[in-house]
Amino acid sequence: MRKRTFMICFIVILIVCAVLVIGGCGAHQAVPSEASGGEGADAVTASGDDDNITDANAEDPDGSDASDVTDEPDESDKTNPVHEPAGSDEKPAADETDDKDAPSRGDDRSIRGIPDAIDTRSSDDGDLLVVVNKYHAVSKNYKPKDLVTIDDKYGTWKNMELKSEAYEAYKTLYKDAKAQGFDLKLCSATRTYNTQKTLYTNAVKNKGRETANIRSAYPGRSEHHTGLAIDVTSASMGWGLKQDFADYPDGKWINDHCQEYGFIIRYPKGKTDITGYAYEPWHLRYVGVDAATYIMENGLTLEEYVGVE
Ligand code: DAL
Ligand code: ZN
Repeated sequence: MRKRTFMICFIVILIVCAVLVIGGCGAHQAVPSEASGGEGADAVTASGDDDNITDANAEDPDGSDASDVTDEPDESDKTNPVHEPAGSDEKPAADETDDKDAPSRGDDRSIRGIPDAIDTRSSDDGDLLVVVNKYHAVSKNYKPKDLVTIDDKYGTWKNMELKSEAYEAYKTLYKDAKAQGFDLKLCSATRTYNTQKTLYTNAVKNKGRETANIRSAYPGRSEHHTGLAIDVTSASMGWGLKQDFADYPDGKWINDHCQEYGFIIRYPKGKTDITGYAYEPWHLRYVGVDAATYIMENGLTLEEYVGVE
């Protein structure tokens, strides 16, 4: 009898140990790292749960409680990878935006909608001040020149790409940030039309079209398509994206110093009526040191600096 009781206890302990081991691995796998092997979504959170991205200082364009406002929340869906690995065999389609998929827009230029594009670029002429926004589009097969693959150590995902000049600038920023004790990673860089389409579609599905439209660009309207934009996350943010990033020491350092490396905070606080998007302290845009310094020191948006809608 005692022997039987002992055997039962032994088996129960074995089962408990097995459950603990499996649970621990699962939690570990949820933490993004370049070793995760996932060429996937851009923005990630420690838990992969969109709702854990917080935003203490969110702009509140809807007049509602924006406590969970995020950039592109659906990029955190690691089960739905969207980044094509370098060398992907994606075939560019016709040289046009895929506007047939767009919701009815007409001439609605309201900042929350998706207005008809004023113009559409189909090739990269090397202009570092290129404006891609709700009014100025890029074609489906627009391909940035001088794209280079980002070393895995800089990203939460493998095989991300950036224009070489922006990449060189970021590497210097990264090195200087590291010297200050900040642990940064890129969770998004260059995106294709199809990547953006997936992100936008998921944003609409999960947050509704009105909210999606101030956080996620319609495909062909994202400046991530230019190869000049990055989303920066950090260990202190749990590798997520938070609108109070500038309240963290690393986010504040980026906000204070990014222009010295040629980057601007592309979607500043309080400028949604100009940029069309909510505040994104993590989204940096490379424009070169002179323009970046002027823009940041004068509290401008790229639209204001260049003088376009
Ligand atoms: N979140 C920015 C606006 C984008 O989707 O490009
Ligand atoms: Zn971004």
